[in-house]
Amino acid sequence: MTGTHDALALDGALVRRDFPLLDVEVHGHPIVYLDSAATSQKPLVVLDTLDWYYRHINANVHRGVYQIAEAATARMELARESVRRFINARSAAEIVFTKNATEACNLVAYSWGRANLAAGDVVVLSQMEHHANIVPWHMLVAERGIELRWIPLTADGHLDLTDIDRLLDGAKLLAVTAMSNVLGTITPVADLVARAHAAGAVTLIDACQYVPHVPTDVRAWDADFVAFSGHKMCGPTGVGVLYGRESLLDGMPPFLGGGEMIRDVRLDGFTTNDLPWKFEAGTPPIAEIVGLGAAVEYLEGLGMEAVRAHEIELTTYALRTLGARFGDDLTIHGPPDASQRGGVLSFAYRDLHPHDISQVLDERAVCVRAGHHCAKPLMRVLGVGATARASVYVYNTPSDIDALADALEAVGEFFLV
Ligand code: ALA
Repeated sequence: MTGTHDALALDGALVRRDFPLLDVEVHGHPIVYLDSAATSQKPLVVLDTLDWYYRHINANVHRGVYQIAEAATARMELARESVRRFINARSAAEIVFTKNATEACNLVAYSWGRANLAAGDVVVLSQMEHHANIVPWHMLVAERGIELRWIPLTADGHLDLTDIDRLLDGAKLLAVTAMSNVLGTITPVADLVARAHAAGAVTLIDACQYVPHVPTDVRAWDADFVAFSGHKMCGPTGVGVLYGRESLLDGMPPFLGGGEMIRDVRLDGFTTNDLPWKFEAGTPPIAEIVGLGAAVEYLEGLGMEAVRAHEIELTTYALRTLGARFGDDLTIHGPPDASQRGGVLSFAYRDLHPHDISQVLDERAVCVRAGHHCAKPLMRVLGVGATARASVYVYNTPSDIDALADALEAVGEFFLV
């Protein structure tokens, strides 16, 4: 069954041709990939860049003085510049490559946190954080005796900012998501950062779901730290980014010790390298960083305004289609207005377990995630153990939403509900 829909800002069907995996068949059906919040698919240009890198310039960086080693270093630093441009950081020195967004959050907790937080110091989080922005702070509760305060949620899945100034009073850090990986909620980052700074707090933004989908300007946010992953934005796995304000990164102790991050090592001690390498111990994920650079250029080619417009239109279509076809049998968590959320649709279908839903959808090659989405505190706030979650990206089309709806009807029939 195909519904009606408005023209999209991107032609998902055309974009789809750039992604070889979307030609795969599963159980004899063409794949319908609706799990991009977990990881995005990769365009051919990223796959080709990885292949080209290993075939033509594979060498270690910042070490050799031979031609391919210099080429590898140059390509890696070019990718850093692409990432800087993509998020409008002031300097490439502010772009630290990590393993993933989780490591980026941990870097802040280990380095800035352990240098600046003592017993009784307050860190403010929201109830919709991913575990990557919760557990490192719980570890500091156990180790240092810091205090955590939690921004609650409204009934429609926004941050409830009624008491925000009281929560921030005396806080040392505000660490919040820019877009929930469960509810899709887009949070008012610039406003939150301004309030946190007024209270004297530093800010860490988990932008893992935001940077791939919405034009991002860390200077307009005025955020101090911003964490995100490469693999959710068409790049390879194994590489993430920590943006950090240069003056803060400068004053922070190193995170991991080893090669690359030092200027000198003697029997009686060491000195650290310049930014950003001070935080990049050991051989970095060079090919992945170069691949991430290609992913950034690919997204710039599509245009991030168009990426966001596509997502709003597709999410509007999904909310309308699923609402019309399933009514009260289907509950979609989070804000009802697509302009206030990303294309992440966590849902409950009658009283079926999300794993059962996901398994039957898989028989029709519809890939959604089921579980707690690494946001167990939020599951408890929602009063559920788990949700099924469909999430869209540049290559999805309204027909993918129709396929989801058709498959959900089959779920209903399968379980005779
Ligand atoms: N954090 C990723 C997700 O939400 C893996 O699925």
